[in-house]
Amino acid sequence: MEVLTTKVAIIGSGPAGLLLGQLLYKAGIEHIIIEQRSADYVSARIRAGILEQVSVDLLTQAGVDQHLNQQGLPHSGIEILTQGIKHRIDLTALTQGKQVVVYGQTELTKDLMQARTQAELSSFYEAQDVQVHGFYDMPFVTFEHHGIQYRVNCDFIAGCDGYHGVCRASVPKENIKTFEKVYPFGWLGILADVPPVAEELIYVQSDRGFALCSMRSKTRSRYYLQVPLTDKVEDWSDQRFWDELSKRLDDESRQHLVTGPSIEKSIAPLRSFVTEPMRFGKMFLAGDAAHIVPPTGAKGLNLAASDIAYLSSALIEFYTEASAQGIEQYSEKCLQRVWKAERFSWWMTHLLHRFENESEFDLKIKQAELAYVLGSVAGQTTLAENYVGLAYEGKAML
Ligand code: APR
Ligand code: PHB
Repeated sequence: MEVLTTKVAIIGSGPAGLLLGQLLYKAGIEHIIIEQRSADYVSARIRAGILEQVSVDLLTQAGVDQHLNQQGLPHSGIEILTQGIKHRIDLTALTQGKQVVVYGQTELTKDLMQARTQAELSSFYEAQDVQVHGFYDMPFVTFEHHGIQYRVNCDFIAGCDGYHGVCRASVPKENIKTFEKVYPFGWLGILADVPPVAEELIYVQSDRGFALCSMRSKTRSRYYLQVPLTDKVEDWSDQRFWDELSKRLDDESRQHLVTGPSIEKSIAPLRSFVTEPMRFGKMFLAGDAAHIVPPTGAKGLNLAASDIAYLSSALIEFYTEASAQGIEQYSEKCLQRVWKAERFSWWMTHLLHRFENESEFDLKIKQAELAYVLGSVAGQTTLAENYVGLAYEGKAML
């Protein structure tokens, strides 16, 4: 067995783990990333693509904003389409100048991985049988890599290993509480090399179900349709997808819709999920390992980033100022922001999707709520300030 020693063992090389690694590297704090998948698999995964300003600022601080600044598309508004009419939410005007940036998580992951390679930082991809031990006392991680057994002794374990990871699963049941809501539908998403239907994102509420028109660049579009969970990707030919999307759009958008072959197509279930607490002795959970939001509010990646803002500042404070205050407050601070984003994501999902068994009364109330939000500056402001991202509580990196 090979025995290694480091300060922070990061489990998982998604955006959360990679960003934490980069921020620790910048602060001169030794760490290792242990990931079960291959580097190619991790860098090819296609996921959401909206960054809040605070997430962009964190990436700037991490020194990985070069491509983001060149290729990211700043957006100052979104459209909400309901009853065949589009309503623009002027994010920037409603939030004193804030905006969001459209930049694919796939690109972001590649940028972070490239920065890591350049700095020659230690990562183990394709690690098998990863296990975390002793996190209430003397933490260490064991795994197998290319036939060699490893043991990593560390001060802290950062559980950035996503929803299906090993870290949360290793916590004794009596020390953890989870909260969950599963939605009775999924999102069928496609990626296609066609120009986006409009310059801004369009969130569509229609009698046929929700749809979203998003993008990755001026020549690459990302579209989603609400579909029953029983549907399979094979049920959806490209033609069927474009026909259905077209039916959910308004006349103007329909005319501008450019269709083409999909380069990716998948169905994702929608879930709200929170773990309390987010620290177990010397092990922290961050990102999808600790919480999941339905994608309607575009908050998944941004919540992972805000956890990492708190976690990196807590660890830096611990090593440079010998203070454990940030570590002790980590869970509480994260969860305040997490629950607000959970509420917003749940609300957006509820408002814009068709649910089975909705009575006519429920539908009327929902339509009235949407009409109120869209017709009132106060309503629009509530949506806008949540969409661009709420401020971090207390001391974080920013
Ligand atoms: N050992 C090592 N690595 C693991 C293990 C394990 N037992 N289990 C999972 N992993 C890895 C996964 O292979 C994945 O690469 O942990 C990583 C977790 O990455 P993500 O799932 O991307 O989670 P996170 O970094 O928290 O990013 C959150 O991703 O899912 C989106 O919407 C979400 O945008 C948000 C972001
Ligand atoms: C995306 O572009 O993938 C996307 C954008 C906004 C969302 C969800 C997903 O709310």
